[in-house]
Parts: sequence; C-alpha cells; structure tokens
Amino acid sequence: MNVKRPIGVFDSGYGGLTVLKEIVQKLPDYDYLYLGDNARAPYGPRSFETVYRYTWQCVEWFFKQGCPLVILACNTASAKALRSIQQRDLPSKYPDKRVLGVIRPTTELIGNFSKTKSVGILATNGTVISQSYPIEIAHHFPEIKVYQEACPMWVPLVENNEYDGEGADYFIKKNIANLLKYSSEIDTVLLACTHYPLLKNKLKNFLPESIQLISQGEIVADGTKNYLLRHPEMEKALSKNGQRDFYTTDSAKDFDSHALVFYGKEIASVHVDLDE
Ligand code: DGL
Repeated sequence: MNVKRPIGVFDSGYGGLTVLKEIVQKLPDYDYLYLGDNARAPYGPRSFETVYRYTWQCVEWFFKQGCPLVILACNTASAKALRSIQQRDLPSKYPDKRVLGVIRPTTELIGNFSKTKSVGILATNGTVISQSYPIEIAHHFPEIKVYQEACPMWVPLVENNEYDGEGADYFIKKNIANLLKYSSEIDTVLLACTHYPLLKNKLKNFLPESIQLISQGEIVADGTKNYLLRHPEMEKALSKNGQRDFYTTDSAKDFDSHALVFYGKEIASVHVDLDE
C-alpha cells in the first residue's frame, strides 16, 4: 500500500488553486492535498487573531492527514498567521513539519521586475494592513518604492463568479485609479492575492500597456522547487504517486462547479468538517 505524505496547499477558498495549478505543472510527481476554507472565506476583512485561529486549525488538519509540508497559498493567511506558526507553534508542537507562505518567494523576486524601482501592490485589506509586502520588499530591495491599494470587493466578486461581469469593471477601475494616483513611476503591479489572476483580462483594460502585471503562481512554484532542492530531507519525506485530493469546508458541489476556472481542470472535492 502506498503511504501518503502529500504537500498540503491551503487557501481561504478557491484562490490557492491558481497557485496549486502552477506548482503541479512544475512538480508533477508529488502528491497534493488542497483545502479551501470556503465556509469561512473571505479572510481578508478578518482580524489577525481570527485569521491565525482559522489558519492554524487548517494547518493541524493537514498534519493529521500526513502532510510533512504545507504551503499557505493565501496572502492574507501568510501575512497574518505564518510568523506565529513558524516561530511559535511548529518548534514546540511539530518540529519536523514545515509551513511556507507566498509572500517570501514573491518579495525575493519582485524588485527584479521594476526598472523605475516603483512597485504597486493590489491585495486584500488584511494583507495591506499587515504591511508585510513593504516590510519584506524593503528587506530584499531597499531601493524599491512600494505603493499599496486594498481591493476589498475583488475576492467577493471572484468567489461569486462575477469576475467577468460589468460589476467587476466598476471596482477594478476604481482601485487601479487609486493605486496609480500614488505615483506615475509605477511600472510593475503585483496581484498579491491568489484570487486575482481570474481578473487579469479585465485588469489589462484599465492598466496602461507600459505597466507589467505579475501574478504569483509561477513564482511560488519556482520557490517550492528551490525549497525542495535546498531541503533534501523534506524532499525525501514527501510521497510521489502523482495524486491530487481536494477538500472544502463548505459544499463540495459548489467547490467543484467553481474550481474549473481556477484550476483549469474538472475536480471532485470532498467536504470536511474541521470541528469533528
Ligand atoms: N486568496 C486569498 C489571498 O491571497 C484571499 C483572501 C480572502 O479570503 O479574503 O489573500
């Protein structure tokens, strides 16, 4: 019998599927277990304490399923929960497990994209308030100026299948205009929320062509690949049967009907009740 020790991939909802899609493409042999906490999404407007509590509950669920490594494919969870998990919870409770986020691999590279040294960040309220991007970018690229705009309506638009509708135009136009007002120097805009790649086509209509739009999927996939190269003990601990399993804390039927646009493939998910 094959022992399953998959890579866990977590998001508040569907957004992390855009990251999983890229990771699976780069690293197809591993087993993956995805969990969307759809019943409690969006995380963006929630407090630090609540995002931490929800995220840690999900991370412990992954550990119980046998995942040695969990990737928080959610900027809000990475911004508000990852530090406590890495610095406090893992060393005392799960010293052999690892949890990674999406902010670190992104901020390690983002400065290389900008010629004008001015980067715009589009993210949830929670990610913006945490200041994680300006702090982390300053660490790797002190010369880069960072401008942030919170887009609180974008995740609800995407989660409710309205990413292609006219309603989305209003909010996208407004948030892009706000961001670009901060500086005419911005030449790179980062989609710092894993839900936002679904809005890419629309975003292009409101951004000048000279501005490049960066999403995180590929960056995080490369980061994961490098991490496994640098940590052979973790690489060996992972099972490699090419299996993908999907779980949601809300309706599996809803999850499956939404997932195609995020993941690019039909999936069959399973409902999980974390309190059981
Ligand atoms: N995909 C999550 C992120 O990257 C969405 C957050 C939310 O649930 O509001 O931040």
